[in-house]
Amino acid sequence: MYTIGNRINKLRQLMQERQLPAVLIVRPQNRYYLSGFTGSNAFLVITDKSAKLITDFRYTEQAAKQCPDYQVMLYKRTDLYEIIDNILTDDEVRSLGFDKKFTTYATYLEMKEKLNAETVPFDNLVEKIRILKDPEEIELMQKAQTISETAFAEVLPMIKPGLREVDIAIELEYRIKKLGASRLAFPTIAASGQRSSLPHGRASDKVVEYGDFITFDFGSYYQGYCSDMTRTIVVGEASEKQKKIYNIVLKAQLESLEACKPGASGKYVDEVARTIIDAAGYGENFGHGLGHGVGKMVHEAPSLSTRSEDILQPGHVVTVEPGIYIPGWGGVRIEDMVLITENGYHNFNKYSKELMIID
Ligand code: GLY
Ligand code: MN
Ligand code: MN
Repeated sequence: MYTIGNRINKLRQLMQERQLPAVLIVRPQNRYYLSGFTGSNAFLVITDKSAKLITDFRYTEQAAKQCPDYQVMLYKRTDLYEIIDNILTDDEVRSLGFDKKFTTYATYLEMKEKLNAETVPFDNLVEKIRILKDPEEIELMQKAQTISETAFAEVLPMIKPGLREVDIAIELEYRIKKLGASRLAFPTIAASGQRSSLPHGRASDKVVEYGDFITFDFGSYYQGYCSDMTRTIVVGEASEKQKKIYNIVLKAQLESLEACKPGASGKYVDEVARTIIDAAGYGENFGHGLGHGVGKMVHEAPSLSTRSEDILQPGHVVTVEPGIYIPGWGGVRIEDMVLITENGYHNFNKYSKELMIID
């Protein structure tokens, strides 16, 4: 696939900059990104001259189909490092870069013992490429998001007092899969009434009551990519306080979205939302960061938060998700996922942010 070839080229450029003549890729998301391989066990060895995928008997046929850019090699457990050594010898390289965050200490010791080549740690190599989404990824993320919204629209009319949070979550999850997602991006959050003050309140046995807020935070995983969205709705009738809190969060969400553009710092975009929530008197009730990158993982770089050191660039995908959580009362979060573009942002999420009252 053209895209995979492009990604390998980008990796080779970065390897050259960092003086890494060969790298071993073990992190599953990086392996998938660089090869298209979706199985659970394989090692990529990439040098300037070759790209090899080493896997076990279960996956050789699958890998040959999924990874035309790679020479697929079979290993039988004990001969892995011998195979890697041979690749390095053939390609005339004497050192192998390994991912210091995703290599266990036990593997490191084994590598040192069995490899003739020198081992050199690297960090943030493939992730540095992954942070900028290519057109194929953007299309898949749009599809993942559209699946979520379609499923949500189908489920909303079913919501009524008396159902449990899990009853609603199951309906949502069924539709997400029926619409083509292979799985969820993360366990569904459906937190109603007082439970909506739990930022990550997974769907429980709690029965939804008249007047409850329900915060839904859910995502689809479609062909290797995640989506992430949150909407908070009211069942029956909204109180004045519910409307007030909702509108503060909405204002913070809309204004921080407008701050999303190339050159804006993650810290600044977070501050735009935080300032609005602080000024309304609820600063203490917004205890998490404003947003995070999304891609093959639901949480990845860059981040929008008080501690972020990231500067937004075209190709970044981030969530914008302010919230106010009041223990013993409830909470509101509104979340969209956006692509940073040359001029600002593209919102993957088209779903309305008016306070929805289901009756
Ligand atoms: N669903 C987790 C999050 O919004 O970050
Ligand atoms: Mn979310
Ligand atoms: Mn999120």
